[in-house]
Amino acid sequence: MRDSPPQTIYLKDYTPPAWLVEDVHLTFRLAAKTTRVISRIRFAPNPDRVDQTFFLHGEDLVLISSHIDGVAVTPTITEEGLSCDVPDGPFTWEAEVEISPATNTALEGLYMSSGMYCTQCEAEGFRKITYYPDRPDVMAPFTVRIESDLPVMLSNGNPVAEGEGWAEWHDPWKKPSYLFALVAGDLVNHPDRFTTMSGRDVELNIWVRPGDLHKCAFGMEALKKSMKWDEDVYGREYDLDIFNIVAVDDFNMGAMENKGLNIFNSSAVLASPETSTDANFERIEAIIAHEYFHNWTGNRITCRDWFQLCLKEGLTVYRDSQFTSDMRSAPVKRISDVIDLRARQFPEDQGPLSHPVRPERFQEINNFYTATVYEKGAEVIGMLKRLVGDEAYAKALDLYFERHDGDAATIEDWLRVFEDATGRDLTQFKRWYSQSGTPRLKVTEDWAAADDASRPPSRDLADNPEAPDQVRGGGTPSGTYTLTFEQHTPEGSGQTEKEPQVLPIAVGLLGPNGDEVLATTLLEMTQAKQSFEFTGLSARPIPSILREFSAPVVLERETSADKRAFLLAHDTDPFNRWEAGRQLARDGLIAMIRNGSPADDRWLEGMSRVVRDDTADPAFRALMLSLPAESELAQALHEQGTTPDPDAIWQARETVAQQLAETLQDALPRLQAEMTVEGAYSPDAGPAGRRALAGKLLGLTTRLDGGAQAARQYTHADNMTLQLTALACLIRSGRGEDALAAFYNRWKDDRLVIDKWFMLQIAEADPARAADVAKTLTEHPDFDLKNPNRFRATMGALAMNHAGFHRADGDGYALLADWLIRLDALNPQTTARMCSVFQAWRRYDADRQALMRQNLERIAAKSDLSRDTAEMVGRILG
Ligand code: PHE
Ligand code: ZN
Repeated sequence: MRDSPPQTIYLKDYTPPAWLVEDVHLTFRLAAKTTRVISRIRFAPNPDRVDQTFFLHGEDLVLISSHIDGVAVTPTITEEGLSCDVPDGPFTWEAEVEISPATNTALEGLYMSSGMYCTQCEAEGFRKITYYPDRPDVMAPFTVRIESDLPVMLSNGNPVAEGEGWAEWHDPWKKPSYLFALVAGDLVNHPDRFTTMSGRDVELNIWVRPGDLHKCAFGMEALKKSMKWDEDVYGREYDLDIFNIVAVDDFNMGAMENKGLNIFNSSAVLASPETSTDANFERIEAIIAHEYFHNWTGNRITCRDWFQLCLKEGLTVYRDSQFTSDMRSAPVKRISDVIDLRARQFPEDQGPLSHPVRPERFQEINNFYTATVYEKGAEVIGMLKRLVGDEAYAKALDLYFERHDGDAATIEDWLRVFEDATGRDLTQFKRWYSQSGTPRLKVTEDWAAADDASRPPSRDLADNPEAPDQVRGGGTPSGTYTLTFEQHTPEGSGQTEKEPQVLPIAVGLLGPNGDEVLATTLLEMTQAKQSFEFTGLSARPIPSILREFSAPVVLERETSADKRAFLLAHDTDPFNRWEAGRQLARDGLIAMIRNGSPADDRWLEGMSRVVRDDTADPAFRALMLSLPAESELAQALHEQGTTPDPDAIWQARETVAQQLAETLQDALPRLQAEMTVEGAYSPDAGPAGRRALAGKLLGLTTRLDGGAQAARQYTHADNMTLQLTALACLIRSGRGEDALAAFYNRWKDDRLVIDKWFMLQIAEADPARAADVAKTLTEHPDFDLKNPNRFRATMGALAMNHAGFHRADGDGYALLADWLIRLDALNPQTTARMCSVFQAWRRYDADRQALMRQNLERIAAKSDLSRDTAEMVGRILG
């Protein structure tokens, strides 16, 4: 642990590296506690340098020897690295260091997982392997020799030679150190091949522990689909003779795009029908695509510095969402992404952790792998594409790859490509990267009937010096309909004055009979307040605003439940149809929580219609039936000036779900029968969607039959989706005990399934008991603090049980804080991420706030607290 106070690093302080690396030779003599790493690195002065300092990052290394041009040197060593007198011109640096993978529980650098050696270097893990300029703008080709008695030894690039106890790899593509990877272990492979569009024959492998070979087929198919898709849609081809994926059990994140050697959390690649749910399959397909797509957006073109993280992550998330939309259902993907954005990114951007998509300062970069950088970063790309159009987007991307291949680039480079390809000025658009916070978009409407059309454009626009922006249609005589938008972004992350941002607002108009009178049209809002006129209308239309969720904003609109119900019935945009139902549900729940109003009939009626609508995709219907999350309701109440009561929120959702079950009672058996999937299991969107809807219906049925049907389904289930859905229903209906015991016995040797067992019983527990269930499970012999998946399955599940976590006695908070304190000493990165479950602490009542603050302060007070956790707790406490 470090003694020096934490340093804040600023984007504005960027300076180019003084020394560049021509090439790197590494030799690894693997040994659990005494691995030797021998490096030979050729340095040359950077022509663009502003100073001459020679500094190599290095942490937790024991330096055995170091030489410059063959002469022994004695560098000055600090806890962050070393400096040394060096020649003026090019020279060769050689060093030997010792590291201890077996005791590396932080899972950064070289570590061991289930007997295998593996590495994780993003963002700054390479400095735990050897002394190096560990920054993304230093790129070099690597040659790696691995020595060990393990049968499989892998690194980046192509294999060049091997012998008894050693293997050598060479990666011809220059890369930053964060993309370095090494794996050695007793592994087996699922092999395949892919021929690229120019005819390169590529060997593909997924490497796993011997017992997992039956879980590789789906991941391999996903990889081949991804390779093909990137050729077809982006014209991007793979560039090595081999592409390896390795599954590891202990991993802090989902997966990592190391050049030619992607390393995956086993939960993000291994799948079989018996052990994985439909949702697991879909997630695995998306993550494999994401990591593969990084080969171009991340590896061939990387980031100049870590402030530019969204350059690779926002774009790659955007690309993987396009891929999933193409492979599955585009509307369902869009709705799911928006649910996720609102659940994870909005709270972040509206609380103490708010930061711009491109942050301007950090203490620990690991804390900025956030929903804002990733998911809002992807939304920004989606807006850009919508604004310039599909063709210009394709042109700009071609230019990006052409101009920046081999570069460590910036957001400025990215935007300049779009400006050059389209002639557009993106100065204002750039605010999406620099301003934090979720814009709030208020909309009001105005209608002037035909005989009224001689009046000045709009009465209520008197304070707007600008005339309404656009006029559409033009039939005469006609009425004029005006939409007036006002945007405002609340202050946050130290930014007080926010400028108006460019908002692409997709709208459609419906006539009173439900017909669409204006198809989706893009309004481009650039001012704080702006009006758009629509003419040629014979009757006052009903607007469908922000179709496809065309901008990541909070839309504020005074509207009636009747209008929402109308859109739910008639909107042609699937996203806004779903949104109308969601808003109805949300408004109804909030009214119930605030004033005890009964469930909204229009919502119940709407749902009965939607669920029976067999022209609608079952997956879409399943999304329709889901209620807003408890945390989303808490945030909504808070915004409306009501202190959220977690128990009341939980109770309201229960009441509404019960009423929905009763409303649909007669239809349930028939609908369930219709959704039954016959034949062999397939994770494709079609059957998965039917199972998703069937699962929702089973949840409702369970409220009526006390779990009888769920018990039958549990017994007969022949895939994990059906089994887990049934188990969740049984737990919720209070009769999960036997099934949970049986489930454990059946699956006790499968870690990934046992993660589900941990998670489900906490997430589905009655809120009054959730913290106790979680506590008991931390005493289970299978609870393993060192395995991030197991830790998240336990503590993450507790946080997901909103009312359970926020139990008034504070036991949920205390339990989580106890374990975060313990984990911090072992794994700072996962500890720090998990701290974010406290981020919304200020929205609750005074007692809960005090309890949360007390636990956050208890974490902050821990001696030797990691830089990661210290920064997070500090920001959350504010
Ligand atoms: N770069 C990885 C991804 O987005 C995520 C990651 C970050 C993994 C840091 C490990 C460590 O796919
Ligand atoms: Zn990524």
